[in-house]
Amino acid sequence: MNLSIQLAPKHPRGLLLANPVMTASGTFGYGTEYSHLFDVQKLGAIVCKGTTLNPREGNPQPRLAETAGGVLNSIGLENIGVNALIKEKAPIWASWRVPVIVNIAGETVDDYAQLAGKLDGVAGISAIEVNISCPNIKAGGAEFGASPDTAAEVATTVRKVTSLPMLVKLTPNTSDIAKVAMAVAEAGADAISLINTLKGMVIDINQRKPLLGNITGGLSGPAIKPVALYMVYEVAGAVDIPIIGCGGITTTSDALEFIMAGASAIQVGTASFTNPRAPLDVLEGIEQFMKKEGIKDIAELIGVARN
Ligand SMILES: Cc1cc2nc3c(=O)[nH]c(=O)nc-3n(C[C@H](O)[C@H](O)[C@H](O)COP(=O)(O)O)c2cc1C
Repeated sequence: MNLSIQLAPKHPRGLLLANPVMTASGTFGYGTEYSHLFDVQKLGAIVCKGTTLNPREGNPQPRLAETAGGVLNSIGLENIGVNALIKEKAPIWASWRVPVIVNIAGETVDDYAQLAGKLDGVAGISAIEVNISCPNIKAGGAEFGASPDTAAEVATTVRKVTSLPMLVKLTPNTSDIAKVAMAVAEAGADAISLINTLKGMVIDINQRKPLLGNITGGLSGPAIKPVALYMVYEVAGAVDIPIIGCGGITTTSDALEFIMAGASAIQVGTASFTNPRAPLDVLEGIEQFMKKEGIKDIAELIGVARN
């Protein structure tokens, strides 16, 4: 059986994944934290925590709240910063066979350019995922992904300074996600990841105030799956570059739904919090499904629900 996927067919070096199962940024640390639980190198790719120019402590606590079928988070991009990532994490990744993709986030277009410039040519980094979709920072983030023009501006700028394959991660918090997707594809994205979290809030009725320290947060988990699936379906009909589906994927059948909707690969996020092996379980389930159905190549499943 062939599970391999080329995620950057238009890029000179490409981004070949052994299989379509990836981890979602911010839910799997730097990959190293999970390597004692299972062989993380069996996965298709690992996407690390959102990385900024300087280290960030993130938003005030509380930053997580459970909701019906989901989780609301307002972490606010707590991370070690790009220089520490290059010094401490990349050398570990350089010895791994699984590609590691660095998720980058900025408050200004120039932040993204500087980040991409610093990561270019660093051993151990196979691609960048440009996060124009974080709802939990005061400036930048999801603001860039909300309109086709600003999304394209970031993508065009990053494209100019990086030789790495460029994934762009979209926000569902926009009125027309297909238009944003077309704009970033036009600007040179090799692939599109979607979706990031949906903006939401919870109120503590005893305290009579918002529960999260940041007031609002981003909703993830099974509750957002139908929205994410619809958006993947929509975007798959609008662009001709690979799509990476994300949002509420917990089981193998969730993953297969996204692939059948048109995703070439999928990311497992919140599911890893309750089952750290979830990405591997999903992968093994896809293999079993293909065996049972007599499918020789994962490509046979991509977009079949669109025909
Ligand atoms: C705690 C937490 C932190 C996250 N941090 C990031 C991040 O740093 N960068 C990013 O692009 N997405 C981040 N996300 C969004 C996820 O990568 C994913 O897009 C979203 O959670 C939807 O997928 P899921 O429902 O499978 O979790 C985060 C999500 C959670 C729950």
